[in-house]
Amino acid sequence: MQTEQTKYIRQITDFKPEIAIILGSGLGELAEKVKNKISIAYKNIPNMPISTAPSHKGELILGELAGKKVAVMQGRVHLYEGYTPQEILIPIRMLKDLGAEKIILTNAVGAINKNFNVGELMMITDHISCFIDSCLIGRNDDNYGVRFPDMSNVYDADLQNIIEKTAKDNNIKLNKGVFVQLKGPQFETPAEIRMLEKLGADAVGMSTVIDAIAAKHCKMKVCAVSLISNMACGISERPLSSDEVCEAAEKAAPIFEKLITEITRNM
Ligand code: HPA
Repeated sequence: MQTEQTKYIRQITDFKPEIAIILGSGLGELAEKVKNKISIAYKNIPNMPISTAPSHKGELILGELAGKKVAVMQGRVHLYEGYTPQEILIPIRMLKDLGAEKIILTNAVGAINKNFNVGELMMITDHISCFIDSCLIGRNDDNYGVRFPDMSNVYDADLQNIIEKTAKDNNIKLNKGVFVQLKGPQFETPAEIRMLEKLGADAVGMSTVIDAIAAKHCKMKVCAVSLISNMACGISERPLSSDEVCEAAEKAAPIFEKLITEITRNM
């Protein structure tokens, strides 16, 4: 399969990534570690949604990380930018078309679970998607996947085992939990966080679940690691700001980069 985005990239390179990595808010620095790289600006890719969010650079980087062929998306697009779920699906299908069979999703999140701390990492074990529209609404493209995809194991069990073992081997504290995506752009209210806690969510953010559904639908093996950039509203006493999110992400970048690099090596 070739979307128009893939066709454009194929005019530049025949590079076939094994693993796709999507970098979230404040986590873009990992892209600097990619060797022998080809960088392609999103703005040059036809009909590619372009990130306007803070610290989302907007480049696709193809190259090698930890001995694996990777496609790294430095920056993603969000519902709060005005993009539809179907537009958010475009880069995921492009990565699939390029050849990536596995995908590592990353993001910055607010912790709802009071046992978590700012600066720690959380592996997503499951998600709650019912506050956002599905990226699969509309005519189904059977070339990618079925009309009614199963979501009982969105986050691949083997990849979760690799992430847990890798964190342990590298002495990195790894929380595990259920993630909920809301639309944003406003942060949640304390009442909303209490509701989300009752629903079983451990962390909240404004991305990633759509990407996970799109990737699972087209049979990619999915895993996701979140950086806890703040305690969610009402748990944290301070008002939230995107500066706080980006600062915390940048501060925790070394452990995050270490974990993602080593996961990539072990995948
Ligand atoms: N809420 C929603 N999205 C977020 C948060 C949060 O607390 N932190 C980082 N992204």
